[in-house]
Amino acid sequence: DAASGGEETTAASADSTSPAVATGITILSEKKLFLGQKLTVIQGNIVNLPADAVIHPTNDSFYLGGEVGSALQKAGGKEFEGEVKKLLEANGSLDTTGAAICPGHNFPAKYVIHCNGPSWNTDKCQDNMEKTVKNCLALADEKDLTSVAFPSIGSGRAGWPKQTAAQLILKAISNYFSSQMTSSIKQVYFVLFDMESIGVYTSELAKLDIN
Ligand code: APR
Repeated sequence: DAASGGEETTAASADSTSPAVATGITILSEKKLFLGQKLTVIQGNIVNLPADAVIHPTNDSFYLGGEVGSALQKAGGKEFEGEVKKLLEANGSLDTTGAAICPGHNFPAKYVIHCNGPSWNTDKCQDNMEKTVKNCLALADEKDLTSVAFPSIGSGRAGWPKQTAAQLILKAISNYFSSQMTSSIKQVYFVLFDMESIGVYTSELAKLDIN
């Protein structure tokens, strides 16, 4: 288990004003974004997070073989696999940087937003990462969702250095709200799972002023 070894602090003991989150999840930091959104960086398994939507980094055919995809598939079972299949039929292939949504099953999130994020060292991968994050948030807004959870897109199967991916994603989340007049989204979770990402976050990224 890549995420074991972290301190077990529940949301309730970390901050009594935080929304309830599942046990086994540790809050690493909380910041307010441009429109008053709360950005909460969490250590834990995104599958257990009770957000309106969790983000699934995938490819153009909604493949469930990435690290987060496999975890969602394992928890979500046949019902979730069926939703992904229907989505592929209805949507066709997912554009590069594109996002598409389907219902979740057998895990707390009501929806899953699938995104076709860039692999490391591909043409315009940094710009495309920012676009991918933006498209996920725009889709959540379009569906009137209030909470969204991102994993560190790109830094598993897609090969990005952990720090580069996390830095770009955090910046892209912040930029999105700075460029909007309004948003239905009130809470964004950034979920770190592996010890390398958590180490980089606690030593480097938390210092970034992303507002
Ligand atoms: N909860 C939260 N984060 C997790 C979990 C989990 N249960 N499991 C793994 N992670 C972390 C990984 O450690 C990594 O840092 O999520 C990050 C993203 O990993 P992937 O899900 O593999 O996503 P990505 O690197 O974008 O690769 C997606 O997989 O679908 C295929 O080929 C397709 O290119 C696509 C790739």
